[in-house]
Amino acid sequence: MAQDKSPKENAGILDVETMTIFCKKKGFVYKTSEIYGGAAGFWDFGPLGAELNNTVKRTWWKRFVQDRDDVVGMDGAIISHPKVWEASGHAANFADIVLTCTKCNFKARADQLIESTLGLKCDGWKAAQINTSVADNHLKCPECKSPFNEAKDFNLMFETTIGPVKSAENTAFLRPETAQLIFSNFKIICDTSRVKLPFGIAQIGKAFRNEISPRDFLFRKREFEQMEIEFFVHPDKIKDCPIFAEVKDLKIGILTSEAQEAGKDCVHVKTIEEISQKYTTQWHAYWLGAILKWFIDDLGIKPENLRLREHLKSELAHYASACFDIEYKFPFGWKEIHGNADRTTYDLTQHMKFSKIDLSYFDEETKMKVIPYVAAEPSQGVDRAFLAVMFDAYHDDKARGNIVLKLKPSIAPIQVAVFPLVNKLEDGARSMYRDLKSCFPCQFDRSGSVGRRYARADEIGVPYCVTYDFDSETDKTVTIRDRDTTLQIRVPIAGLKTILADLIAGRAEFSTAGKKIEAK
Ligand code: GAP
Repeated sequence: MAQDKSPKENAGILDVETMTIFCKKKGFVYKTSEIYGGAAGFWDFGPLGAELNNTVKRTWWKRFVQDRDDVVGMDGAIISHPKVWEASGHAANFADIVLTCTKCNFKARADQLIESTLGLKCDGWKAAQINTSVADNHLKCPECKSPFNEAKDFNLMFETTIGPVKSAENTAFLRPETAQLIFSNFKIICDTSRVKLPFGIAQIGKAFRNEISPRDFLFRKREFEQMEIEFFVHPDKIKDCPIFAEVKDLKIGILTSEAQEAGKDCVHVKTIEEISQKYTTQWHAYWLGAILKWFIDDLGIKPENLRLREHLKSELAHYASACFDIEYKFPFGWKEIHGNADRTTYDLTQHMKFSKIDLSYFDEETKMKVIPYVAAEPSQGVDRAFLAVMFDAYHDDKARGNIVLKLKPSIAPIQVAVFPLVNKLEDGARSMYRDLKSCFPCQFDRSGSVGRRYARADEIGVPYCVTYDFDSETDKTVTIRDRDTTLQIRVPIAGLKTILADLIAGRAEFSTAGKKIEAK
């Protein structure tokens, strides 16, 4: 049995439990407050996880805010005026249906229980339909086999109190999505940022949902992070996207609502252009394509592990007229990692009604006031992107006898590891390391054999290891070893930073970036 591996890892099984153990062991993610037994649905990121998480967010912000002329950013508060959640509909509608055991008080999310025991999808079902299904199928508590109480709606928003006095007027909510802050700030952003339709407002931040059954590690948490854009267009121009050419040829599998209604799990590969012609508007399809490109180009996710799923009419959120998920092929099935709704003018209209403030936009061209239309709401969970990246990169290399985390070099939490071949070469190696550390996240490792050090670096996804040896002292060259191929090249220390920067950015081919060292 390989050392340092869990029994499942040794058996080559990659499931969510193996990933949870791996992430803990390598310093990516831990149960929160584990010394006290943890808290279900809450997780902490360790040194490597915090780096990777920040990088995921940084790539998103750069691509969708900094590199664009038509999106501006904001950062709203987690607690806001409770009217925000009345206006948005969350106070009345943001609920799952819960089943509670009459005897042991065990609580289950009704749709999940029915799906796992009866294999039935019950998105959009009301409590009455759930009760009928529970009674007809004699469903019992999985813990103690007693009957359930009547199914009840359970609002997922976490409540808190503003100030020292607990009272109905002082009750507030932790935001269940970042999006509403974009709507409530819409007017002030228009007035202060010189934005012109079509434009988007983007935000990254924490969101909280009191999930009935948090599960699957980072997949369903009670505290998580979202990266959201509300993309506003003129209500008379919701169809045509002038920048559609950027994404139109991208191909992706799609599970349509028609196929799902017919009970078929068949996926057809289509271009984004075909999707816009058949299933939704150009703007909506454009944003699905733009996000898919981020997953593939920035995060390095394999395209075959991504697909689109069209929402059934019965499962659409109260604010949406159409919605597509981007799903990732996890070991526990194809699951949503991104949601993208056509949100119409619903939210701005609601906030106008509840705040009695005019949130319309003055269109210079027509000299008319309009309520902008949210043609797309790319809504991304940071944690689910993180989890998809980890599963996609995880590779159990039987020949090497260790895990190789094949992260795209540009997002690896440690991009370069520096090894002195023997300890007496440490001074030279350290001076090179200090120089590299000013440019890349670097790690210095002097313990154990070089083979052991390569294995440790592979497991945390370090793409390039640089070994300083006896020849380095005289000819001022070093060896770089490539994580994915284990190929090695010899390069001058003087050019090392440029070579590594080119390799990490994908501008250079490893085999031609230096003098190839033949395997002995
Ligand atoms: N503003 C729209 C909105 O919040 P959503 O589909 O409920 O839509 C969007 O959530 C994304 O947020 C999901 O695709 C997922 O990536 C992430 N997300 C939602 N609930 C989550 C949870 N409990 N744990 C982790 N991520 C979650």
